[in-house]
Amino acid sequence: MFQKSLRMSGKGSVGIVGSGLIGKSWAMIFASVGYEVKLFDVEPSQVSTALENIKSELLEFEEAGTLRGTLPAVEQGKLITGTSSLKDCVQDAIYIQECVPENLELKIKVWTEIDGLVDETTILGSSTSCIVPSLISEKLKNRERFIVAHPCNPPYHTPMVELVPAPWTNQETRDTTRELMSAIGQGPVSLSRELPGFVLNRIQYALLNECWRLIRDGIVSPQDLDVVMKDGMGMRYALMGPMETIHLNADGTQNYCDRYGETIFNVSSDSGPVPTGWKQESEADRAEVAALHAALCETVPLEKLYERRVWRDKGLAALGKLKRDLAKSAKDE
Ligand code: NAI
Repeated sequence: MFQKSLRMSGKGSVGIVGSGLIGKSWAMIFASVGYEVKLFDVEPSQVSTALENIKSELLEFEEAGTLRGTLPAVEQGKLITGTSSLKDCVQDAIYIQECVPENLELKIKVWTEIDGLVDETTILGSSTSCIVPSLISEKLKNRERFIVAHPCNPPYHTPMVELVPAPWTNQETRDTTRELMSAIGQGPVSLSRELPGFVLNRIQYALLNECWRLIRDGIVSPQDLDVVMKDGMGMRYALMGPMETIHLNADGTQNYCDRYGETIFNVSSDSGPVPTGWKQESEADRAEVAALHAALCETVPLEKLYERRVWRDKGLAALGKLKRDLAKSAKDE
């Protein structure tokens, strides 16, 4: 029923609950392809700040040639409005993207309120980074239309989203959310079931664990390790994932495994357990974290973090444009 209404009604309204960093970004993404967006926050001043920032960022992106979508920045901005009423935000929405802070009790409270306001076709999406959807949605009466839609940060410049169903999320919700995310240019990654860390953070944590071990054991400095990623592997990964990379690094995946499989198995078996430093329970753990922090502060002092984030986001925007241009020229060939 939902799929039908989405397809028949054309662009509808999307409700964004929570207008912080992630909510603001989702609003811009939906507006970029013509959806009307209603932004709600428990803190009304947050909504006004978000609306102001959205308008200026859209203009800035337009000037830099990194604006998403085809509508002019001013038109995109007009599609996003604020509201001080949760009901107004979610009622009649075809899709809701909740972006409140990462706290299970708060998420359950907010969703319980939304649950009583929506009609029986609205899809209910949460941006949660780490909470499995069953924990948030178990008691909702509309739980079969609940799904996690977890973006990468900053979502506007990292166009992907993980779609994580609860055991009771129906197939129509899984399929329609995937279609919707494709339509807004946020490349969907569908998980067959929920699991801690979803996919993105499981990969990120595996990588971080190896980095931690190599630095802790004095094999490499944090700065040199970052060079391996940003000027080595990361250059490739900005264009293709690790699976396509291995396919290309030999004569196909079978050949890659024939050539390197045993080495990979042996090296990986030498990797060691998850570093206890993450938990900071012992003096030694805390000393490891302090040393790592101090080393990173040499690269980016804390007072320069904001400046460096702005630099990163500009770089990501330019990279996104390059990737879109490459995809377009490949299509034209
Ligand atoms: P944030 O702290 O920037 O924004 C949260 C907003 O929610 C604030 O404006 C706050 O006033 C509002 N809020 C609090 N209680 C509310 C309520 N009851 N009703 C409506 N609004 C309420 O947080 P951020 O970073 O935007 O994160 C939001 C969600 O997105 C979290 O679940 C987080 O895990 C997830 N996420 C965050 C990423 C990140 O790197 N920041 C990346 C991907 C997902």
